[in-house]
Amino acid sequence: MTKTHAQRVFSGVQPTGNLHLGNYLGAIRKFVDMQHEMESIYCIVDMHAITVWQDPKQLRDQTLEIAAAYVAAGIDPDKAIIFQQSAVSGHAELAWVFNCVARMGWLNRMTQFKDKAGKDKERASVGLFVYPNLMAADILLYRATHVPVGEDQKQHLELARDIATKFNNEFGDEDFFPLPEPLIKGPGARIMSLRDGTSKMSKSDPSDLSRIVLTDDADTIAKKIKKAKTDPEPLPTEMDGLEDRPEAKNLVGIYAALAGMTDEAVLAEFGGEGFGKFKPALADLAVAKLAPLTEEMRRLRGDEAYLEGILRTGAEKARVIAEPIMREVKERVGFIV
Ligand code: TYM
Repeated sequence: MTKTHAQRVFSGVQPTGNLHLGNYLGAIRKFVDMQHEMESIYCIVDMHAITVWQDPKQLRDQTLEIAAAYVAAGIDPDKAIIFQQSAVSGHAELAWVFNCVARMGWLNRMTQFKDKAGKDKERASVGLFVYPNLMAADILLYRATHVPVGEDQKQHLELARDIATKFNNEFGDEDFFPLPEPLIKGPGARIMSLRDGTSKMSKSDPSDLSRIVLTDDADTIAKKIKKAKTDPEPLPTEMDGLEDRPEAKNLVGIYAALAGMTDEAVLAEFGGEGFGKFKPALADLAVAKLAPLTEEMRRLRGDEAYLEGILRTGAEKARVIAEPIMREVKERVGFIV
């Protein structure tokens, strides 16, 4: 008999560098929608952040910046839980148990570690290697059933399901942890760099022109879109015409995600037009959608006491859910509690 777990959303964002359009469209915007569907927990994953060196003062600032972004985007702190990972000790405790459940071979297959560690794996932190185990712990500490993320987190979510399955099998309850469902589909799941349509928009790209960040002003957004790499052809009228045109496909995808339209509808409107017409329309749309968010983030960022209060209350609420689950984990594993 499989028991049904209550539906619960969990997701997180790392407080490293400025949030960009990919983070917003691929994740945060979905968080806002999901809070109306089911109980939602949104974390600022500062423990994940320190898997690569972070300046302590900047880490603190960025944590508040993400809290401001969550609230400015429309997450209601009275409805959803907003908190900082390091404030709930269960994340570290469960991650340790999972370090002992997951196999080296599983982690060796993680493409994000390979990308982030680069050529010199010997110098990567051990934390970076076991990063996906901590991510599984984040989700399963709350028995979350749904996880809204961008496409790049898919492999980590599969690992979380494998860990849940192995734990359930080994510790005698096939339903102890739910198998969390990734929520990836939809426009914005994979926003690509504005300079190279084959690599994803990322905080770590050395070129500022590759990404629109949520603190960019209207002129900067317009400039980045104007300078975005494209090809000389006009936009096609059908989706087939976007094959082998990654930059054009990306800009159409961004327009669709911002406007809440399908890619097909964007092509129906702009097919046959050149980028000379499409780019200014995209810039206007991006500014119209992002400017109020940026403005609200700036306002909230000025009220640190308010943001810290949200994080404190959020952590208290998170602990209430996490503590009994962590206690059960300890009992199952054989720790005296
Ligand atoms: P992070 O901080 O790198 O990114 C936060 C979210 O933004 C999404 N994202 C994108 N979506 C579309 N296009 C892009 N170019 C793009 N770039 C980033 C990411 O998929 C993510 O959803 N490991 C996670 C944080 C994490 C987490 C968790 C997520 C820690 N624990 C538990 C879910 C559940 C990460 O590094 O996200």
